[in-house]
Amino acid sequence: MRISILGCGYVGLVTGACLAEIGHQVVCTDNDESKIKTLNQGALPIYEPNLDEIVARNRKAERLTFTADLGDAVRFGDAIFICVGTPPLQDGDADLSSIDSSARLIAAEARSSKLVIEKSTVPMQTGQKLKRALEIYARNSGISFSVASNPEFLREGTAVLDFLHPDRIVIGVGDERTEAQLREVYRPLVEQNIACPIHNGNCPPKVAPRLLVTSINSAELIKHACNSFLAVKISYANLIADICENMGADVDEVVEAMGLDARIGPQFLRPGLGFGGFCLPKDVQAFIRLGEKAGVDVALLKDAERINKKRIDSFLAKARHALWILKDKRIGILGLAFKPETDDIRFAPAIELIRRLLQEQAQIQVYDPQAMEKTKALYPSIRYCTDPHEVADSAEALMIVTEWEVFKTLDWQRIERAMLRPLILDGRNLLRGKELAALGFEYQGIGKPIDESLAHIPVSG
Ligand code: UDX
Repeated sequence: MRISILGCGYVGLVTGACLAEIGHQVVCTDNDESKIKTLNQGALPIYEPNLDEIVARNRKAERLTFTADLGDAVRFGDAIFICVGTPPLQDGDADLSSIDSSARLIAAEARSSKLVIEKSTVPMQTGQKLKRALEIYARNSGISFSVASNPEFLREGTAVLDFLHPDRIVIGVGDERTEAQLREVYRPLVEQNIACPIHNGNCPPKVAPRLLVTSINSAELIKHACNSFLAVKISYANLIADICENMGADVDEVVEAMGLDARIGPQFLRPGLGFGGFCLPKDVQAFIRLGEKAGVDVALLKDAERINKKRIDSFLAKARHALWILKDKRIGILGLAFKPETDDIRFAPAIELIRRLLQEQAQIQVYDPQAMEKTKALYPSIRYCTDPHEVADSAEALMIVTEWEVFKTLDWQRIERAMLRPLILDGRNLLRGKELAALGFEYQGIGKPIDESLAHIPVSG
């Protein structure tokens, strides 16, 4: 099929590249011309594992092209995926102005009927509004538009695998013709008759995903309901972690046992510094607003959000407990991205943590395998280390903020020697506390009984 993608962010790029990979002809556009220029030079504006290979292969095969000509892109596709940003407004509502501009653009530039698919995360009933907008903007043109919702469930860091091996594909449609068109788009994935392009051994076994056909409203709600549920699950794990810390239990043992209950499942039960990124926090916020507008009691979601916001407070309290005064203390931070395998720092716990540490005038030195450039733009004056071991130089504490695999295998003896005080505050329970203690470290994880011997001031004082 001929497919157009509006918006070359994470969602648009992965969707466009993967749709080309499964055999469609895809043209991607973005109103940020510099992004298109970068893409046409063979580079990617984001870091996402496996995406570079897929983009390069499909550009070479001429199934995937990038153009700054928005009109050309609109006219190219029979189906147009809207993948533009829907960032949160001050009041927590999603900003839908880019969806509206996309509708204007499509209505103005289309010369034939189009299927317009919302892929961006949008509040419920946006599909209806989009359809109405297209009709109004294309009034008198004689061109008809059908609208569908096809929410994405792509996790940054594994987005390509998530696209090519989905758990399920949800298509929200209003008529059979639209359903047939979208079934055609996803047929290669449903039949799993594609050669998996991932060559690093991480390719999951071929399992045909279920394709669920729903109403447009339900499809929009499914996306919100999933992300908010994941947020609630993480906050629940963090609540358990706090109880463990105060009552002398070990959260890793508790959540492992919980996860073995098939009704609960092991995923998204990892306690730590909370959920960040551009999806979960903003989706929960938007869902709260939506529920409130619908007159529904959304206290559960508000509590999940509140628990999440307090993760940094309790981590800093732990730092103060061990370090007493933070002013002028040298602190090493490992990890800036909101999670591993991405360079994305939007709503990353590390960003808020650094802000608060700077407020208390701590001296900060950081390392992240991918996210340093983006962080430099926010905090130009902290020290950026070229090697993860360097963050230990004369530090009085080392904080693990993102659970990159490489941090597990650092030369911990070298780090212990380099630190002024070999204290590790592990915000992701990434490391083995006992092994580090044997090397001479003081170690405090999340949801572990608080080690009072770490306290700078005796608890009784
Ligand atoms: C999320 C959804 O998972 C995906 O389906 C959706 O389409 C986009 O939003 P993403 O934002 O890439 O994906 O990240 P995700 O893997 O969901 O993690 C979100 C945050 O939760 C991260 O900050 C991560 O560190 C945190 N997290 C995740 C935990 O703190 N504990 C966990 O157990 C899992």
